[in-house]
Amino acid sequence: MRKKVTLITGVSGEVGLALVKNLSELGYSNLLTLDIRPLPPEYTNYSSHIQGDILDKSLLNRLVSEYEIITIFHMAALLSTRAEFTPVAAHQVNVEGTMGLLQLAAEQSEWRGDPVMFIFPSSIAAYGMPDLETKSKFPKVREWEWNYPITMYGCNKLYCEMLGTYFNEYYRQLAAERPQTLDFRCVRFPGLISAFTVPSGGTSDYGPEMLHAAAQGEAYAAFVRPDTQIPFMAMPDAVTALLDLSQAPKQALSRTVYNVTSYSLTAEQFRQQVLMAFPDAEINFEPDLKRQQIVDSWPADLNDNDARRDWDWKPDYDIERSFSEYLVPNILKRYQG
Ligand SMILES: NC(=O)c1ccc[n+]([C@@H]2O[C@H](COP(=O)([O-])OP(=O)(O)OC[C@H]3O[C@@H](n4cnc5c(N)ncnc54)[C@H](O)[C@@H]3O)[C@@H](O)[C@H]2O)c1
Repeated sequence: MRKKVTLITGVSGEVGLALVKNLSELGYSNLLTLDIRPLPPEYTNYSSHIQGDILDKSLLNRLVSEYEIITIFHMAALLSTRAEFTPVAAHQVNVEGTMGLLQLAAEQSEWRGDPVMFIFPSSIAAYGMPDLETKSKFPKVREWEWNYPITMYGCNKLYCEMLGTYFNEYYRQLAAERPQTLDFRCVRFPGLISAFTVPSGGTSDYGPEMLHAAAQGEAYAAFVRPDTQIPFMAMPDAVTALLDLSQAPKQALSRTVYNVTSYSLTAEQFRQQVLMAFPDAEINFEPDLKRQQIVDSWPADLNDNDARRDWDWKPDYDIERSFSEYLVPNILKRYQG
């Protein structure tokens, strides 16, 4: 008998670490994790960890011969800034890596006669607002609007949303006997802010970077204009969204891809929040025109009504609570001991 497990890919990243800790604390004991990086020492008790590449087919074959995978939280990815520097590698990891895991989940679903659940985090990068005028005219976008990404990462995410939806609903639709398909569920996240990890490789990183620099007493120059506005969410809510979506009854879900968000802030408003906690912080703006163009293509806010209606999505951390209860105290502990 193979051991039944929940697989988390990309576990050593910002979201993965928060997720594995949370799942373990909730009593998930059979957690299998995979990342090209090792787990930090304080996380090693939460899971059986395999250090390896999602693109390694023989590794994936070995996994299914040893384990019965029930659920996959697929977090491994190359994020927006990194993907723009290495677009071919991004396509390989973000698209081919996801395709390999979708195939694995499809085969396992067929073999079990029961769907493998596939949870996928997409991003506001799946949107592409053509100009600032349109961005301010359509401030709160729905899932199907403005899906014209201008980054490799955004293209990868949008295509994988579609691939997942295909595997969920139409996989082998012309076969004489339709197979048991997998159960694909996806959230489109805004910029995520963690108190415990410093982001790297994302284009919404200027927010969290302001905060982490201020807490360390370092000056910081944001790479965007002060009026730049996108939505954000505190990391505990991102984990809640992944868990709540995974626990929702299938019949309640009217879509495969759901926007989720918490609050929308301009970079200047973000700076003001940081200054409230760290009044001496030295935060300036030195816009990098190329990165600015990417952030300008992302919507100012998301409409997440469908998630709220279908699976009772509701963030626990508004701006006030994010900063005063989660970010500031934990960041202070992290840097000031
Ligand atoms: N952080 C955000 O603001 C944000 C926003 C929207 C969506 N997301 C999505 O959430 C997921 C997690 O993001 P994150 O912030 O934790 O990213 P991260 O960069 O911190 O973590 C990604 C992890 O994937 C691993 N990885 C990369 N390539 C791999 C490969 N070939 N094989 C195995 N592992 C590999 C990396 O080592 C890393 O630990 C990603 O899919 C990301 O696109 C993140």
